[in-house]
This record gives sequence, structure tokens and C-alpha cells, in this order.
Amino acid sequence: MILLNPGPVNTSARVTAALARGDLCHRESEFSDLLEAVRVKLVRAFAPGSDWTAVPLTGSGTLALEAAVSSSVTPGHKMLVVDNGVYGARIREMAETHGIETVVLEWGWTQRPDPERIAEALGRDSAIEVVAVVHHETTTGLCNPIREIGQVTRAAGRRLLVDSISGLGGDPIDLEAWGIDVCVGVANKCIQGIPGVGFVLARRPELERMAGIPPRTVYLHLPRPHAAHERRTVPFTAAVQVFYALDEALDELLEETVDGRVRRYAAAANQLRDGFGALGLEILVPPAWRSNSITTLRLPAGIRYAGLHDRLKEDGFVVYEGQGELGATAFRVANMGALDHEDFARFLAALERVLA
Ligand SMILES: Cc1ncc(COP(=O)(O)O)c(C=O)c1O
Repeated sequence: MILLNPGPVNTSARVTAALARGDLCHRESEFSDLLEAVRVKLVRAFAPGSDWTAVPLTGSGTLALEAAVSSSVTPGHKMLVVDNGVYGARIREMAETHGIETVVLEWGWTQRPDPERIAEALGRDSAIEVVAVVHHETTTGLCNPIREIGQVTRAAGRRLLVDSISGLGGDPIDLEAWGIDVCVGVANKCIQGIPGVGFVLARRPELERMAGIPPRTVYLHLPRPHAAHERRTVPFTAAVQVFYALDEALDELLEETVDGRVRRYAAAANQLRDGFGALGLEILVPPAWRSNSITTLRLPAGIRYAGLHDRLKEDGFVVYEGQGELGATAFRVANMGALDHEDFARFLAALERVLA
């Protein structure tokens, strides 16, 4: 089955084989070595040569993001949330669930947030401590202007927390140069591991600052796993086999290089978009804002998503429904994972047959 949903993705034979490295107790030195290897490789891939640290956490991306969000804001201060899709809205839900006051700036789902509006909001409200934004809004396949948001956030002396769960490895992001303080990712999207581990990349001084904030939860308070990781251990049971797979997936990523992975995804997205154009399909997001890994397409008149999905699945391809308000009118095609030109060519041929 070729997975054209935005994760979990098709993994390589190498990554799948890593799952069978063997049973292991997470309190043994072999796991300490594995944990250390994963942390070092995450920093090498995404924040090389700088004072960053990685905190891998057992759970899906939401868990890692909720850990970052709930650990970031000092009581009495606020989080500014940029909301132009389902995942921006979810950051707001997380913050408010943990009793963090939010200032929410909303844009339409196919609109790009305006950094000037963010700068104004920061100027008006000195209680805002952290700005939180999604890098690649998986809802639509739109990349937000993180570099520009980083500039205004830094100029105002605040911190920037980025959800790059569907961005890291697929679209360009420069944690150091773009003024990001905390960035959240997951194993099973553009990094091409399997589901079950998310991670937080953070500047070390930012984690030290978080350590002074009273914990809002037991499991999610980021300084706790980080302190354990620095002692080469974990506070709670880790998904050992998922760590094996992530370790292997990171080796593959570093061999391909992150830039190489980003270029491969961009080429795949271009191949698909040329094919969609030839089939007369409309893409919802303007060209300059499109990510390298998801295309949101308007459903052609008279075609319902369920029928399209089921017919394509019979041919071995899984596409993804439109999210929320786009459910009835759009569908999504992702190009994440260990797939090649041939796979996408076969998919376009199948889509042409099914639409006909
Ligand atoms: C941008 C973004 N944030 C958060 C999540 C949630 O991740 P998970 O489903 O792994 O919990 C996703 C999942 O698609 C995502 O794309």
C-alpha cells in the first residue's frame, strides 16, 4: 500500500528491520546508548553546531507539542497563538487546557499570517511571553512565514515555539538563524520513522528557563525528561523499538542529508502538481506558500471523497480527506516517506483512471 496521507508514512526496509533489533530493558546501558544516539542525531540533523538539545518523548506528535506548550509559559504570562488551521487551533486548546492565557490571532485557512499584526500584538501586550506557530499547516499544505515571525518575535524580546511536526525534513527551516527557541517534531512523517516517538528541539537556556516554571503535569513537564536524558536515562518507560526505528531513520536522513531530503520532496510535489494540473485539478494554496509535502485539491464536481478514496485504495493508494470545513470539498495528497518517482507516476495514472 502506498501511503499518500501525511504520516504514518511508508518506511524503508532498513527502518522496518531495525524494529527487530531485539528486546531491551530501557534501564540498561544499551538503551542509554540508543537514547544518546537519537538525541545527538536529531541535533546534528536540525540544529548543527549550536547550543541546542533534543528531548525525544514516547507518544505521538501531540504529546511532544503539549509538553512544549505546557512547559513554556510562566504563571501570569500569556502565549500568543497564530491560528490559520486545525493545528494552530490545537495549540490554543492545549495552552488553555493547561490554564495558560492566550492571545489568538486568526487568519483564514488558505491565508498566510501577517508578521506585522503579530508585531503589533506584541507591542500592545507585555504579558505575552511566547509566540506559538505551526510551520507547515498540515490542514492545507501551507507553509507559514516562520523566518519573518521569528524576526518580529526576537525584536520584541519574546520566545518562539514552532510546531514543525509535518515540516522538519520536508521543508526548509533554520532553527538558529530564524530565531526559533523551541521546535517540535515527530518520527513518522518526513523523518520516515514509525509512529510512537515525538521530540522537542530546544535551545539549552530555554530549557533552563522552563525548569523554573512550576510543572503543570507530571508526564509532560519538559525539564523532567530532559534532566533524565542528561543523565542518560528516561523518567518513564520508553517505546524502545520505536527508538530503534528512529535511530535508523535518522541515519538514513543524515546520509541523504536534510537538504537532499527537502529537494527530493520538492521534486515529488512538483511531479504530482504537474500531473494534477494535467488532470484539471485545482490546488487550494497559492504556489508561493505551498509546502513540499502536501497538496490540497478541490474535489471535482460530482465526485465524493469516500468513493474516490475507496477506488484508489483498491489500486493500492491511500489518499487523505480534507480536514474540518474542507471535508466536503477537498482532499489531500501527501508525498512523505520512502517513495520514488515511479510510485508517484503510478499514482497519477490510477487517479486519471478513477476520475475518468
Ligand atoms: C502540524 C501538526 N501538528 C500536530 C500534529 C499531531 O501529531 P500526532 O497525530 O502525531 O499527534 C500533526 C499531525 O498530523 C500535524 O501535522
